[in-house]
Amino acid sequence: MAKVYVTRKVPDAGLALLKKKKHTVTVNPDDRVLTKPELITILERERPDALLSLLTDRIDAGVFAAAPTLKIVANFAVGFDNIDLAAAKKAGVAVANTPSLVVADSVAEHTFALMLALAHRVVESDSFARSGRYKGWDPNLMIGTLLAGKTLGVIGLGRIGRGVAGRAVKGLGMRALYTDMKPSPDFESEFDAKFVKQDALLKESDVVSLHVPLTEKTRHLISTDSLALMKPTAFLVNTARGPIVDEKAVLTALAARQLGGFATDVFECEPSIDCDPYDHLELKAMPNVVMTPHTASATLEAREDMARLAAENIIAALEGKTPSNLAK
Ligand code: GLV
Repeated sequence: MAKVYVTRKVPDAGLALLKKKKHTVTVNPDDRVLTKPELITILERERPDALLSLLTDRIDAGVFAAAPTLKIVANFAVGFDNIDLAAAKKAGVAVANTPSLVVADSVAEHTFALMLALAHRVVESDSFARSGRYKGWDPNLMIGTLLAGKTLGVIGLGRIGRGVAGRAVKGLGMRALYTDMKPSPDFESEFDAKFVKQDALLKESDVVSLHVPLTEKTRHLISTDSLALMKPTAFLVNTARGPIVDEKAVLTALAARQLGGFATDVFECEPSIDCDPYDHLELKAMPNVVMTPHTASATLEAREDMARLAAENIIAALEGKTPSNLAK
């Protein structure tokens, strides 16, 4: 029997698994993100063996110092850039995440929705219709972009990148280019996709979709220089992490009509939508920007799967086993 602290309520599916193993589960009773001092005070008081954290919790050396009994941090997320892995290693604490096919499918579908929303101007058209400006069929109204036959460039061919490219090729009849650490011959033969260097992908793609983790290498991977390579009609889609994109550079490119549109589920200065609200360029003021509030994996199915996986990671670590989804 061990003590598990959960930093914010997650689906019962996961908590029930922990309770079934007779672990004592304490959930933060306030439905909000804990501040770092609050988390530290709780850890010092509760002395948990396992922590179920969210991507909004910053877990670093200070947190590990406050929790000497901790064996595992199970992040309720695919990404784990909120956790200092080196500090975890030093503290002897395992770190796990929740990647799964269900989660990848959810994010891939959401990415697809954003891509279609940009190309078919769905959000602009919805606002237009709601505002009462629609006066009848007009051959020149809300002209969008056909995606069939166009080129999708996927940066990062993990489960999500594959899901997006597969849907684009098989569902929409797009051509797929991709970059990754190495080519994936099975993927190429199944989807007639082509492995290219990043610059070539940026130059040739009509839609660029980002599916890499946030690391020091990928921070501002999309910069003024990379945007300059892209077609002025191209769409950029980000369902990975906000800081992978230099948002100011994107805003500047959009304002100068050097980029066709930007759809994003994540923000560079999250939870703020715009990094500098006083800057005259704002994402929320741009008609060719579509935004969702970091909800790409927010399907009932994915959230339950994430809760289950996080619980299984904790159960394994507490039994002295290696969790299936160790973050590396
Ligand atoms: C969500 O962004 C996740 O990493 O799961």
